[in-house]
Amino acid sequence: MNCDLLVVGSGFFGLTIAERAAESGRKVTVIDRRPHIGGNAYSEAEPETGIEVHKYGAHLFHTSNPSVWEYVNRFTTFTNYVHKVYTTHNGVVYPMPVNLGTINQFFQAAYSPNEARELIAEQAGEFNAKEAKNFVEKGIALVGRPLYEAFFRDYTAKQWQTDPADLPASIVSRLPVRYTYDNRYFNDTWEGLPTDGYTVWLERMADHPNIDVKLDIDFFDESQPFNKRATVGHVPIVYTGPVDRYFDYSEGELSWRTLDFEQEVLPVGDFQGTPVMNYPDTDVPYTRIHEFRHFHPERDSYPSDKTVIMREFSRFAERGDEPYYPVNTAADRDGLLKYRELQGGEKDVYFGGRLGTYQYLDMHMAIGSALSMWNNKLAAQ
Ligand code: FAD
Ligand code: NA
Repeated sequence: MNCDLLVVGSGFFGLTIAERAAESGRKVTVIDRRPHIGGNAYSEAEPETGIEVHKYGAHLFHTSNPSVWEYVNRFTTFTNYVHKVYTTHNGVVYPMPVNLGTINQFFQAAYSPNEARELIAEQAGEFNAKEAKNFVEKGIALVGRPLYEAFFRDYTAKQWQTDPADLPASIVSRLPVRYTYDNRYFNDTWEGLPTDGYTVWLERMADHPNIDVKLDIDFFDESQPFNKRATVGHVPIVYTGPVDRYFDYSEGELSWRTLDFEQEVLPVGDFQGTPVMNYPDTDVPYTRIHEFRHFHPERDSYPSDKTVIMREFSRFAERGDEPYYPVNTAADRDGLLKYRELQGGEKDVYFGGRLGTYQYLDMHMAIGSALSMWNNKLAAQ
């Protein structure tokens, strides 16, 4: 093996490891089974309009971690984009997350923060959150029946393709309600979108004389170079693919939710006036519509008579689907523990990232945990 480190997966986790290793003088090979780098953060220009589209779902960067913020700024600047979301319920548009504006619009009222708090506490009194038997009771116990039914019940049912009465109370510990008019989606210190797009950022991370990126290579395809059988035990490996796949599903398949995306170019300059519109009601089959031009209002290269939208549908993943969000049932947590034990037997293989740890990680978390793995486990080798 003519490299010092093999990284399986070119998402933010894998590229952060590769960049750190390359900077410290190691020769790194990065493989990815997809035809492009970047994992799920990959984006590209839609050919007809030039509008940057996030191929695997809208990605908003945000962090409160100073070392992650310092690190990412080595590769890109960020715009001053601030994420906001709206929702269309019963033909009326409301601001999200549920805030004083949403509440006053919904109840056709002018409650003060304290009045709204009292009203919601009274409505939430129908159930006790600690004794809730399912998602319905927990949801009502947290925000009261009217808000629960309008903004959470059917949206959750669509996300999980499951009747909320059959969902465990444990999938929700809190539902966001703000008693101010603040409808900023994220609470982090820093947020923004990469000025020249995600793929330029990701390519800059990989652009190093010590990094060799090889695409269209599946670690489990023994007819290809750098496959598992040919490499494990011969070179240190950072593996960011699915942990159950690594062990050939010996302890069972971990369950994931996936998303289906339907992209369309429309002959209007502006379809919905905002980047993300949620659709919580059952009569609409998708959960949200993204309109990508609104992520970059500063770009004057975008056409004024066309726009790109993407409808998002949610469902349980089957083998072969893209795994997006861990379902995390009791059986999944059990299986994960068994896979963690098996990892101990793999010499010099380090499991990381979203798929390798069966954990939902935002980009800043994936980057932060890769920096820790580098500093704590790999740098000294
Ligand atoms: P990934 O990006 O998934 O990269 C893993 C890579 O490994 C992939 O490229 C894959 O092809 C490769 N791989 C897998 N198996 C093999 C194999 N056998 N051989 C070779 N290569 C393999 N984060 C935010 O901060 N803000 C957001 O708004 C946001 N929105 C998101 C929306 C969606 C729909 C999803 C799914 C995620 C979102 N994220 C968001 C999270 C973000 O995508 C992740 O934090 C980031 O992708 C994690 O990087 P990773 O390297 O762990 O995994
Ligand atoms: Na997102």
